[in-house]
Amino acid sequence: MNWISIGVISDIPRRGARCVATPQGKVAVFRTQDDQVYAIDDHCPHKGGPLSQGIVHGAAVTCPLHNWVISLETGKALGADEGAVRVIPVKVEGERLFLAQEALASRAA
Ligand code: FES
Repeated sequence: MNWISIGVISDIPRRGARCVATPQGKVAVFRTQDDQVYAIDDHCPHKGGPLSQGIVHGAAVTCPLHNWVISLETGKALGADEGAVRVIPVKVEGERLFLAQEALASRAA
């Protein structure tokens, strides 16, 4: 597996997110209250809302547009809503964060 460096964990506030532009599209990288880091497509499965601008609670994010709740672990919409976004594996090495390149590449296919 090849990994792409996307910066350090302190770039992302707790319960916040960063939008990372990749050649295959925008990826929302989240940091939870307990410093877990997750990456999913920055594109809500409902109508494409920017999930990186949503509210993080536990291991989920609420879309800023119509309040769908998306699991950061599975990428799936929670509750009564149906849909999913792709989850990109994240590696944390000390302070540094990396995204799995193959997962990004397969996204474009
Ligand atoms: S676009 Fe995300 S809830 Fe509608």
